[in-house]
This record gives sequence, structure tokens and C-alpha cells, in this order.
Amino acid sequence: MTTYREFHRRSIEDKEGFWAEQARLVHWEKPPGKVLDYGRPPFARWFVGGETNLCYNALDRHLGARGNQKALVYISTETGEERSLSYRELHLEVQRAAAMMRSLGVGKGDRVVVYMPMIPEAAFVILACARIGAIHSVVFGGFAAASLAARIDDARPKLMVTADGGSRMGKVVLYKALVDEALALAKHPPSKIVLYNRGFDRAVRMTPGRDLDYAELRAKHLDAVVPCTWLESNEPSYILYTSGTTGRPKGVQRDVGGYAVALAASMKHIYCGGAGETMFTTSDIGWVVGHSYIIYAPLIAGMTTVLYEGVPVRPDAGIWWKIVQDHSVNVMFSAPTAIRVLKKHDPAFLRKYDLGSLKHLFLAGEPLDEPTHAWIADALGKPVIDHYWQTETGWPILTSVPGVEKTPIKLGSPSFPAYGYDLKLLREADAAEAAAGEKAVVAIAPPLPPGCMSTVWGDDERFVKTYFGTFRNKQVYSTFDWGIRDADGYYFILGRTDDVINVAGHRLGTREIEEAVSMHSNIAECAVVGVADSLKGQMPLAFAVAKDTTRLNSAEGRKALEREVMETVDKQLGAIARPKSVHFVSLLPKTRSGKTLRRSIQALAEGRDPGDLTTIEDPAALEQIRSALKTSTEP
Ligand code: PRX
Repeated sequence: MTTYREFHRRSIEDKEGFWAEQARLVHWEKPPGKVLDYGRPPFARWFVGGETNLCYNALDRHLGARGNQKALVYISTETGEERSLSYRELHLEVQRAAAMMRSLGVGKGDRVVVYMPMIPEAAFVILACARIGAIHSVVFGGFAAASLAARIDDARPKLMVTADGGSRMGKVVLYKALVDEALALAKHPPSKIVLYNRGFDRAVRMTPGRDLDYAELRAKHLDAVVPCTWLESNEPSYILYTSGTTGRPKGVQRDVGGYAVALAASMKHIYCGGAGETMFTTSDIGWVVGHSYIIYAPLIAGMTTVLYEGVPVRPDAGIWWKIVQDHSVNVMFSAPTAIRVLKKHDPAFLRKYDLGSLKHLFLAGEPLDEPTHAWIADALGKPVIDHYWQTETGWPILTSVPGVEKTPIKLGSPSFPAYGYDLKLLREADAAEAAAGEKAVVAIAPPLPPGCMSTVWGDDERFVKTYFGTFRNKQVYSTFDWGIRDADGYYFILGRTDDVINVAGHRLGTREIEEAVSMHSNIAECAVVGVADSLKGQMPLAFAVAKDTTRLNSAEGRKALEREVMETVDKQLGAIARPKSVHFVSLLPKTRSGKTLRRSIQALAEGRDPGDLTTIEDPAALEQIRSALKTSTEP
């Protein structure tokens, strides 16, 4: 039997041999000529010259053997709808969507922004884009108009597909007014909008000549036969925006062939999901987990994928486990926050259902604390595997690989580097490799393995500078996370090295939130930091300097301004980015060169020592932060 160590070693020492073998897991219309081209570091090109298609691998390839098997099961506890599509039916719907898009002039290389809730049509559109070689950019339905507009301007789509609304906890959120606002804000709006009407918005306003109805268009293409467009392995498949240190989100660009191979390999070695089995991933299609493990990977593996619209505790905290029982789910993937929510409920909800089909539960997206890990592993009586990765990588960096070797799980650890990743823990000061037990920066020696981002959309320089510029003397990819390895070789992730925070598994840049806070006309400047939160992992906290301080003289005035600032953030970014509270100060702690001391503010907010303060311009600023925090914790 191969051990995970040997498997990993081979993937690093014989990259080409290893990945050539994995490449056999997918269909190539034209086999690749060269497995890896690393002639222009740090840009890696995988399976050069090979031609394939993600949609073909997800659907067409399975029609012969499993055309009548369920491909997609849709469950909405928001609307009570439940629907399933076989591989054959999904193939048909995807061709209809592809024909619709083609009739609107969308072809290879054109961008399509998808701003949709968790409905099957979102999956149809995503797969249809892949089919015709259009580049999809899915924007999470919770993002506000200004964020949507910024993404539109960067991607410059020809088309946007949306719906009349989404629903959360039984509350409908209408999309169209927000979409119209985003289109008005955008400098490069798409010329056509396709809207899927769920019957949420009876008064939906359609702009003649621009806005089209999904159902009407679909009806014109019921018998559509749209062949797959074969794409060279390194052509772009999608753009997915993610937050970083600056206020401007980065468009993570992914390829076609490398991504298909990486996902297929991960289903075999990591998730252990086989054809005919069922996978239930509780993420959203707007996030990378949804792209990889709701849509593409389970279908590439010939599995049934569950698309769930709803929350884990409605109608009660047993809903997920009922889904596992009713649909014989074999592989499940979720996030620590959701488990922390469930932990507040009676574990009897888990024991009520027959979980016999479930092999393991994977968790990712944020640190998994030991008590939560222990609680869920005990309640489920199944292996719970913490694994660590990023939007940029598209699939796990640190994980246990039960498909290769079932290694013991250590609570709170995402185990070991996955095959393909030459992982390093580097000292911040000199990029030297850290010893066991020493906290250091998690880095990957390039080339990045297949499936990882190819570049930042439209900005190669930003890709190199942002991700490979952390160390002056070494060109390595920085994950911007702190990590540590124990004496047994298990890794632990200790949080970000940059200004990115993680709220309930949603990745947000504190710079983005600062910019949103500053959009309020009475805010002169502000600092936003992430503070530990027992449920959501982290929450943003804002410290702001007001231009006109008259209203701050009364508690009501302060409260009212705080509310207005929160509303401004809701409007700019969406409610997911809303600060837990906004504290008003008359100055922010800065270095003499004018840099805000965010790490010190964060330390104070979490009750820790603020660290080295020799560079501070005015110590009184820190006193203000201290007293602002004190007032807020007083009853
Ligand atoms: O800080 C790490 C944290 O989430 C970041 C990536 O977030 P995102 O791009 O949204 O991708 C999520 C894909 C699962 C990482 O840089 N993170 C992710 N997984 C873990 C984690 N932190 C600790 N443990 C994890 N398992």
C-alpha cells in the first residue's frame, strides 16, 4: 500500500509523471503534449496543448453509463421546493441555457456575470458557460450593488444572468432593484440581462431591449443541441473575485484542464466520492467551495450533487441529517461556523436520522477549534476531516488523504500537505525554513499544482507582486496564513498574516470595509479590524473619526451615527460585512510614517497585549481605543 508520504513525495519529485497519471481521470479530446510548462515562473501551464471541456467531463461523459442517474438534487427549505434532474435532464437544461446565451451573442472568451441564489438554473448557467467556452464570474447573492458594480467593471461581461430574488430564513431578498443600481453604477455594464423569475417579485421591472426573461428564452430553445467547445487546457474557465489587502477585489482566474484534473483527483484521493454516490456540500455557488464541490467535482466524478437552499436550523437543527438520510449522502462538506451553530442545539437532532451512508464530513473555510471538532466527531460517530485551502487554490492544500492512507486525525489540525503542494513554513524575517513548533508563514514553492489560479484576471503583474512578493530573496507563493507544524508532522493554521478576516467562513478585506465606512459623508477616516467571535470565528469592528462631532455628544447621537455607518456598509458591500460595532474616536493610532496600527488595535480589542509601540506617533490614540472598547463592554 502507498503511504500518503510516498504519494506526496512522488507528486513533488516526479511532477510530470504524477500528474500525467492523474490526467487520465478526465476526458481529453486532444491529449496534452507537455504535462508542465514552467518556462515563465511563477506562471505554471499544465497539460499544454491538451483540449478538453469542463462541461463535457461533468455531463456528456456520463450519459452512456449513468444517463438516468440523478445528477442534481435541489432542496429548498426556503420555498419547500424539491426537484431532481438526471444526468440526461441536466444535460438538456444546460444545452438550453447554452443556446440561450449563444442567441445573445455570447461565445468563447466572453464573460458572463452570474448573480443568482441557490437554484438549479444557476448550475445550468455555470455549466452552459463552461460548455461554450464563455468565462463565468459568479458573484455571491449577498453582495451589495457597489460590490457587484466593481466586479462587473473588472470582468466587463457581455451578459449577466440573475433572478428576481433569493430567500434566507423565510425572508425574501429582491435582487432586481439592486441589479439595476449596480448596472447604473458600472462603467462597463453588460448589454443584456437574463432574469429567472421565481415568482418572488410580481412587480419586477424589466428594461425593454436589455432585460430578458429566462423562461421565455428557454422556451425558444427546448430542443437545443449545443456541442462542447474544445478548449486548450490553459484557457480561462472562470473568474472568481476574492478579498485581499487592498480595497480592490482580485479576480482569481482558473484554467480548464488543470482544474478538471485537480478536481477529479481530489474526489478520488481526498473525498473518496465515487460514481453513483452522493455528495452534499453546504456552501453557496458564489464561493469557491460551491464552484469546486457543489458543481464541478461531484459531477466530474459521476456523483449526485445536492444543491441546498436554506439554513442548517430551519425547520429544525436536524434538516441536514434528514437530507443525508433521505438521499443516502456519502460525502459531506461544510464549514466550522455552521457546526458551531448546530452545537447550540440538542445533539439528539443528529441521532434521529440514519446516517449509515455517510463516510465522512469535511470542514473548511476557517479555523476549526478543537471543542467544535470533538463535538461533531462525537455526535456523528464518523471521521470529521478539517482541511485547509483558498479561493486561489481551488482545492485542498492541507488535508488528510483517506483515499491513499487513513491517517489518524488530530483535533484542530488539517493534517498534512496535499499531494502536489510543496508546502513550506517560512520565517517572516528571512524566508528560512522554520523548525517544528515554530510559528511561520505558510508558503508554497512554485510551480503551483494543477487547478490553482493561473493569474489575476487582466493583471499578471498583480498576481506576481501580490502572491509571490512576500520574501525579497525567494519567489514563493504566500498563502498569507500563519502556520505551525508539530513534532508528528501535523500542521495547524493560526490565522492570516494580512488584513483579511473571516466572518462565518466569508472572506473579507478590512480595507474594503474601511472604504465602505468612509463612504458615509460624516466619516473622516477609520480603521477596521477583525475580532474573535465565538460563533462566527471573527467579526469586523470599526473605529472611526467623525468630521462633525456634534452628534457624538449624546449617547443617542452616537447610536444614530453608528446605525447610519452600518447601513452604509450594508449598502456598499452587503450585510455580511457589517461591523459588530462602530466606535468613535478623535484620532487613530498610527506610526510616524502614517500607517494605521491595526494589529495593535486588534490585540486591544481581543484583550491581548498591543505589542511593540515604539513607532507610534501619539500614544493618546491607543488610550482612546482602550476607553472606547471599555465603554462598549459596560452595560
Ligand atoms: O485563512 C485561511 C482560511 O480561509 C482562507 C481562504 O478563504 P477562502 O478564499 O474563502 O477559501 C475557502 C476555501 C475553503 C485561508 O487563507 N481557512 C480556510 N480553511 C481553513 C482556514 N483556516 C484554518 N483552517 C482551515 N481548515
